Amino acid sequence: MVKSRSYLAALIFALPALYPNGASGQCGGLPLTESAVCPEGSVCVPSDISYFQSLPGTNIPLSSPIHLAVGTPTTPPSKAVGKLPALGWNTWNAYRCDISEEKILAAARSFVSLGLREAGYEYVNIDDCWALLERDPHTKEQIPDPIKFPNGIKAVADEIHSLDLKIGIYGDAGTETCAGYPGSLGYEAIDAATWASWDIDYLKYDNCNVPDHWNDDRAPPDGDWYNSNSAIRFRRMGAAIADNDPPMQYDLCIWGDAHVWTWGARVGHSWRMAGDSTPTWEYIKSIMSINVAHLSSVDFFSHNDMDMMEIGNGNLTIEEERTHFAVWAFMKSPILLGTDLAALSPEEVEIITNTELIAFLQDTTEGKPALPFTPPNSISTDPPQFYSGRSAKGIHVFIVNTNDEPTTFELDFAEVPGLNLSSAGVHDMWTSTNMGIFSTGFNVVLAAHDTAALLVTPVSQK
Ligand code: GAL
Repeated sequence: MVKSRSYLAALIFALPALYPNGASGQCGGLPLTESAVCPEGSVCVPSDISYFQSLPGTNIPLSSPIHLAVGTPTTPPSKAVGKLPALGWNTWNAYRCDISEEKILAAARSFVSLGLREAGYEYVNIDDCWALLERDPHTKEQIPDPIKFPNGIKAVADEIHSLDLKIGIYGDAGTETCAGYPGSLGYEAIDAATWASWDIDYLKYDNCNVPDHWNDDRAPPDGDWYNSNSAIRFRRMGAAIADNDPPMQYDLCIWGDAHVWTWGARVGHSWRMAGDSTPTWEYIKSIMSINVAHLSSVDFFSHNDMDMMEIGNGNLTIEEERTHFAVWAFMKSPILLGTDLAALSPEEVEIITNTELIAFLQDTTEGKPALPFTPPNSISTDPPQFYSGRSAKGIHVFIVNTNDEPTTFELDFAEVPGLNLSSAGVHDMWTSTNMGIFSTGFNVVLAAHDTAALLVTPVSQK
C-alpha cells in the first residue's frame, strides 16, 4: 500500500495521547496501525518504509521533504568486485520481456564460441520480466516465471558459473518493476536473500513505480543528494546485498536522477546517466554530451553507465558501431552487449573483441577515463571530438568524427594534454599496427561518425 506525502506529513504532526511504544519507540510503519502516534514534544520520523520512530523535537516543517535519511544504512559497496567497468551482456535490448533460460544460456555459450570470454566479457545478465507478477503469498519471495525458467534461476546460474562466467539479475527500487513485476522497495532483505541463494553476482536495480514520498521534488535538506529519498532507496538495497556471497556488483539504474554521479560510488559500482538507449546515432551523441560533463566522477569502483550496447541493433553503420564501442571504452562505461550474439557479423565481433580498447577499459593501473580537449585551431563541438587519456601503455588519443561527412583531423602532438612532444610514434589501436614516427603531428582521415583510437608514444621530448 502506497502512502501519500500528505498522509505522512499528517502523521509527523500527530500528537495523540496514546503512545504504546514509548518516547523513542516505533510510532508507525508498514502496515500502518492505530499505534502510529507520538508522545507530545516528539515527531514521528519515517526511518524507512517499515519503521517510523518517535524522536524528540517538533521542528520538522511541513514544507520540508520528508527526510528519510535518519537510520538509513551507510554501507559502502563491496570492494571485492566492481573496480573495473563491467563487461558482459544483458537481455533487455535484445529481447525485452521475451526472455528464457534457452536464450540466456545461448548467449553464455556464445561468450565462449565467439571469443568474448577470452576477451574479458564475464557477466550474463537477466533484465526485467523474469518473475511472476505476484510474490509467494506466504514467504513474500519473488518467484521465477516457470515458463521462462522451467528449471529455476539457480540452475541457469549454475550453468553460467560452470562456463566460468557470472550471472546478473534485475530488481527495482519501487513497488513494481518498469514492466510491472514485483518491486523490491520494502522487500530488500527478502529479495537480497533470494538472489544470494541463487549465487547471483550482479544486480541492476531500476527506478520505476516509486511512491511519491520516496521521490525527490527538491534537494534534500542538507543539500547532499546522498541523503535524497532516491539515494536512500538504493542505499537500502546496497545494505541488503552487502553480505551476499558471492559479492555483488551493483548498478544503480537511476537514469541520471538525483545527481547520482555525486554519491553513486558511496552506494554502488556504476550508475545510469540517462534514460534508455536507442540504436541510433542521435542516442550515441546525446549520451556522450551528457557524460562528458561528469567524467570527473569516473575512477576505479566508480563508473558512469552510458547504458547497454546497441551494436547489432537498428541501422547503425559500422562506423557508428565502432564509435559506440570506442566511446564506451574510453569513457570507462560498463559495456553490456544487448543483441542476439549469434546474429553479429564477423566485423561486429571484431569491434567488440578489440583487445586494445578493452585493455584501455579494463586497465588495472589507470582508473580515469579519457577527457575531452579542444586543440586551439579547431572549433569546439558538442559532444567534443578530441579526447586523451592514459593507460598502462602510455597516452592515448581518441578522435570522434561527429560530422556527417568524412573529415581530416589534424593532431598536433604539442596540443594533446600530457603530451608535449616534438615527435611521436603513432599506433592504431583498432588494427594493432604502428603507423610510423611523425614529427610535430599527425593527420587522421575519418569517415562520417567513425572514431580513431591511437596510442601516441614519445620519441624525443621537446
Ligand atoms: C528501464 C531501464 C531499462 C530496462 C527496463 C526494463 O527503466 O532503464 O534498461 O531495464 O527498465 O523494464
